[in-house]
Amino acid sequence: QVAESLYIINQFAQKFYDKQLFESEEGQSIGLPYIQQRGFTEATIRKFGLGYAPDKRDVFTKEALANHYNKDLLLKTGLVANRNDQLVDNYRDRIVFPIHNNSGKIIGFGARLIKSNDKAPKYINTPENELYIKSKILYGNYFARQAIDKNDECLLVEGYTDVLSLHQGGIENVVASGGTSLTLDQLRLIKKYTKNLTIVYDGDAAGVKAALRGLDMALEEGLNVKLVLVPDKEDPDSYLQKVGATAFKAFIQENKKDFVLFKLELSLKDVGNDAAKKSELVNQIAETIAKIDKAEDFTKQQEYIRQSAQLLKVEESGFTALVNKFIRN
Ligand code: UTP
Ligand code: MN
Ligand code: MN
Ligand code: MN
Ligand code: MN
Repeated sequence: QVAESLYIINQFAQKFYDKQLFESEEGQSIGLPYIQQRGFTEATIRKFGLGYAPDKRDVFTKEALANHYNKDLLLKTGLVANRNDQLVDNYRDRIVFPIHNNSGKIIGFGARLIKSNDKAPKYINTPENELYIKSKILYGNYFARQAIDKNDECLLVEGYTDVLSLHQGGIENVVASGGTSLTLDQLRLIKKYTKNLTIVYDGDAAGVKAALRGLDMALEEGLNVKLVLVPDKEDPDSYLQKVGATAFKAFIQENKKDFVLFKLELSLKDVGNDAAKKSELVNQIAETIAKIDKAEDFTKQQEYIRQSAQLLKVEESGFTALVNKFIRN
């Protein structure tokens, strides 16, 4: 079966890149120093199974073919590419991050460029295949499950290195969305473990937008969503490494904002004195609040209605009626 074979190839690749990192000369002179300069310890590197893909044409491909792995399957994993009818390595001069499923099996990789190079993408990810279905993947899920359950909260960050830094700082209930906006499948995966989702994104506009896109869907799924934006120009990885784990944890606790109210406050800034814009916003917020299942969380919905009406400066009874209109629709 294809899926089974892909697991085996991924496992083989992880061992190969691991060996390149710790045992080859380039691994020791280029790969390992790069990861260590980014502040990651050997324990973190080993826990997440990071590896090193050397800047060579086909070292992995040759090794895989010598071990009789099937060409078509190798291409399917995205580890091998076809260039002018020649099979070559797809990852070169990169740090390789294996991506695990719930049971710890490797379903794909993210590979980060080491030398900055304007032409090459910063990360190459596994193409969609029988194992790697992007919309269903949360990076770090396997390592976070227990901590999410214990804390009854899941932190969501954007990137691979954000997950690594938080783990290293003792925050283990964290997964990454991979930079894209959240999908329904990802939200449902989180909901299996907890209803409390805290999004910790980059403070830039793109980060905020990506987070906002998932909001209504998250509310519909019955999740309590909070948001923390790390300071401008930082991401959770860089910020934690800058201020240290203790200060980072305090920052998260102090800056957690309810997501619905965050959206409201952000939009209010745009509205100003424009009456048409204001009425549109009132409708939008009512629609968002209507997504919270009344039967399941009546108090929460009431509280949102109260606070939103106050912030929007509209009458609470009228606003309640509007929310109810959206619920019926
Ligand atoms: P970022 O650009 O924030 O990268 O993208 P990062 O995670 O902080 O990585 P470093 O610190 O520069 O090494 C966030 C996430 O978006 C996805 C990756 O999953 C990345 O971790 N991404 C980003 C890609 O898939 N491809 C890209 O070219 C860039
Ligand atoms: Mn639980
Ligand atoms: Mn970013
Ligand atoms: Mn980063
Ligand atoms: Mn980032």
